[in-house]
Amino acid sequence: MPTPKPLIAGNWKMNGLRASKGEFEAMIAGATPELVGRADLLVCPPVTLLTIFADFAAGSPIAVGAQDTHTETFGAYTGFLSAEMLADAGASAVIVGHSERRAILDETDAMVHAKTLAAWRAGLAAIICVGETRAERDAGTAVSVVERQLAHSVPDGATDDRLVIAYEPIWAIGTGHTPTSADIEYMHGHIRDLLVSRFGVEGRGTRILYGGSLKPSNAKDILAIPNVDGGLIGGASLKAADFLAIADAVPAR
Ligand code: PGA
Repeated sequence: MPTPKPLIAGNWKMNGLRASKGEFEAMIAGATPELVGRADLLVCPPVTLLTIFADFAAGSPIAVGAQDTHTETFGAYTGFLSAEMLADAGASAVIVGHSERRAILDETDAMVHAKTLAAWRAGLAAIICVGETRAERDAGTAVSVVERQLAHSVPDGATDDRLVIAYEPIWAIGTGHTPTSADIEYMHGHIRDLLVSRFGVEGRGTRILYGGSLKPSNAKDILAIPNVDGGLIGGASLKAADFLAIADAVPAR
């Protein structure tokens, strides 16, 4: 089975106004056939921009996604959005279990599991985020933390077209710090082994993204690591030039 086609995904978090459309336009303009031949591209803006971006991206090689979903289809859940609504707005994927939501909103693995099922129900790919804190890495428990998150967050029935894993060490997010290449290679290899032992051939084709201070200056090295099938990018995805430079660092496979 060939290695998965890399995915370069931008997570805009709580950033972006309608005036940011120019950056998105520049991303589309820069997504050359050569580049999209090497990597799939996805931008997850705030929901206020989802429809605008989706309409604008129609027919272009850039897909749009969301940053969270509720588990129910509809109902009395003030302020929440269902996966069906996100799909209706033009999303093809949704990030679930980002560490900021796990930390700020106490999202548990069980909630991430339920949100993933909701995403699949609506036909969205789920990008499930996992990763350890600095204290957990220092204590030598990073691998067991990620193992536990994967075991409880990823539902049965995962297929390589609707499951993406993002390994994001929390201490690397927005800090400028990244793990060593050896540490990334070890963790991604371990995640691959877990996916293959649970899902067989589908686990072999599942994309495992690295996230946390990925930027143009380190993208070439990180994206060349075995079992790193692209990246989930926060800060550096807000500027078209940086996002495209990271995508351009994806090695030809
Ligand atoms: P960062 O964020 O690239 O700004 O470190 C990554 C993420 O939180 O997905």
